[in-house]
Amino acid sequence: MMKDGFGREIDYLRISVTDKCNLRCRYCMPKQGVEVLPHEEVLTLEEIFRVVRIMESLGVKKIRFTGGEPLVRKNLVKLIGDVNGLAGISDIAMTTNGLLLEGHIDALKQAGLKRVNISLDTLEPSVFEQITGYDGLARVLAAVDAALDRGMQVKINCVPCRELNDGGIEELAGLAREKAVDVRFIELMPIGCGKNFHGISSEEILERLERQNGAAKKELPTGQSETAQYYAFDGFQGRIGFISPMSHKFCGECNRVRLTVDGQLKLCLHYDNGLALKPLLRQGAEDDEIRERIAAAVKEKPRAHSFSDKTAQEHEEQRKMVQIGG
Ligand code: GTP
Ligand code: 5AD
Ligand code: SF4
Repeated sequence: MMKDGFGREIDYLRISVTDKCNLRCRYCMPKQGVEVLPHEEVLTLEEIFRVVRIMESLGVKKIRFTGGEPLVRKNLVKLIGDVNGLAGISDIAMTTNGLLLEGHIDALKQAGLKRVNISLDTLEPSVFEQITGYDGLARVLAAVDAALDRGMQVKINCVPCRELNDGGIEELAGLAREKAVDVRFIELMPIGCGKNFHGISSEEILERLERQNGAAKKELPTGQSETAQYYAFDGFQGRIGFISPMSHKFCGECNRVRLTVDGQLKLCLHYDNGLALKPLLRQGAEDDEIRERIAAAVKEKPRAHSFSDKTAQEHEEQRKMVQIGG
């Protein structure tokens, strides 16, 4: 078991497998895109697997693949299969925009992927195109159905922004009425392009949804570290969740670290501190040395984010969300 300096047990690793994305969501990436890393700077799948194996031996149980868009990375299915073969890993999930999901779904399921979180901000085709720069709503909805059809657990991630999708929030929540999916609303964090928009608070959205659908029942805490607070509405098949990093920090129960595409063990979403693993991986370090360095780095994990503090802070993350994976 691995504990940080505040006694939090770290058992969840989010792995960004690519900094490329096939969409251009406006709160995540600039219109012109971002400069992607040269090929040789990106960890190979073998290097990623080695880090997972070492972290499994330190007590990591849950792996989530993120990007950019994880499904643009070649041979990801093979990596998922390898990770699934590790006895200590009990949960493998992915956060994806869903565009490429339907075509890969059977292979992913077979490799051991159990859950997908699909980013989707609207059910209005023209608004989808305005937000993402691509006319792809139908493909994402087909992917939601394909994943459900294969018995995968599906969550929808929506980031409500005043300027982008405010008018379609109730309609999107309705997906959880019609399908067995959880729909989660995420408070916009001021990272990268997120700074250019105004998020909508969880409180406002809950109020709006209760006005429309009647009072919701708040789910009791599961005791496991969760980013979302869930609610049940009468007549809904799935739950409505709220991820509220701005109004209700969940850092006290944080259980996660991140592996960036260039091989940094990133300790907190808000800060750029971490351990550069790539030189260790490429300069012949033994597993034991890497294990010790990871355990020591985790001790330095920041206590909490300070997104609400407007003054410049040391080590504040300058990368865009597309380069971090959320
Ligand atoms: P589940 O395991 O299904 O609960 O997923 P998750 O919420 O851990 O992951 P997901 O990738 O779906 O992230 C949903 C939202 O939560 C995204 O906007 C992430 O940026 C945000 N998020 C995930 N982890 C953290 C975190 O450690 N800190 C903060 N502040 N936000 C996070
Ligand atoms: N604040 C909150 N969530 C964000 N995401 C991307 N940028 C932000 C932001 N600034 C979400 C995406 C995706 C997840 C990985 O993070 O919509 O669902
Ligand atoms: Fe954990 Fe940092 Fe996210 Fe807070 S902001 S929950 S400390 S990763």
